[in-house]
Amino acid sequence: MQEIYTKQIQNYQERIKSTLHSFTKQKEFYKKEVMQAMEYSILSQGKRIRPILAIEFCKMCGGDYESFYEIVCCIELIHCFSLIHDDLPCMDDDDFRRGMPSCHKKFGEAEALLAGDALSTLPYEIITKECNAGKLSAETAVKLIGEISNASGINGMIGGQAFDMYSVKMKHFDVHNLNLLHELKTCKLIEASCAMGCILANADDEKTEDAKAFGKRLGYAFQIVDDILDVEGSFDDLGKPIGSDKEKGKITYVTLVGLEKAKEAARHQTLEALKILEKFDNNELIADLTMDLLNRKK
Ligand code: IPE
Ligand code: IPE
Ligand code: MG
Ligand code: MG
Ligand code: MG
Repeated sequence: MQEIYTKQIQNYQERIKSTLHSFTKQKEFYKKEVMQAMEYSILSQGKRIRPILAIEFCKMCGGDYESFYEIVCCIELIHCFSLIHDDLPCMDDDDFRRGMPSCHKKFGEAEALLAGDALSTLPYEIITKECNAGKLSAETAVKLIGEISNASGINGMIGGQAFDMYSVKMKHFDVHNLNLLHELKTCKLIEASCAMGCILANADDEKTEDAKAFGKRLGYAFQIVDDILDVEGSFDDLGKPIGSDKEKGKITYVTLVGLEKAKEAARHQTLEALKILEKFDNNELIADLTMDLLNRKK
């Protein structure tokens, strides 16, 4: 990645972190532990690609992204909720996340469950508050709430997690099934991130759909690479256990088509994403990031 973009991404990451921190400042005694669990998870070292996508799509569509940090961070809250629940013993049962003990290991299962629950609804409070403060129109707020709830709920990420659990019980599971699983559990939140940026910039529906089409391709590539890293990555780089999928008997791109074909598929999806991105002006940072995510180690 070009140095100016690396710097820009670091700036975004810092501002995202301080915005996330502002959401958990007030911790009354009765909810202190759950709020500490929320804070622990949202402030840990994530790549923050979802809010960064929202910022950049807002920027590419000519929007005033500087005033929307609270809003773009909402998608990171949903993502963190998905990670906390994904690691629970009743799901992937993973003990590490972002280089630290997973939320339930540090705070206990019930606290982690509630921390995830709390992060899943906080975005709607934040968006409503920003709207009531006059920073967003009601129409924009409804569009944002629609995107986030659809992408995170039973028709999106949660539906994908359900499919992920069910997949291990299926006798016949092919690439089409796996694509749908990836589309739901991973692509939907990434698509919504891109869409949010466009909506915040008051872009038209066609632009928003283009952004989602890009997000879907990026999401496919992203999850295939995640599956590859579960085999070829290292704990030190990833900050989460490797071999987790194999241990749980998960069907992934690697188990279905092998490492080489999985790498080819990730590359193909990345190139398709880049083609769609051409429809946006000033797309250099996102183009660089998209290529970087294909070759990432973490
Ligand atoms: C991990 O997402 C979960 C998947 C959807 C593959 P990220 O790789 O974006 O995780 P962080 O936020 O950087 O930790
Ligand atoms: C994650 O898939 C999808 C989510 C919705 C969290 P994984 O289970 O492969 O993610 P990691 O590898 O634990 O981050
Ligand atoms: Mg999982
Ligand atoms: Mg997992
Ligand atoms: Mg994984």
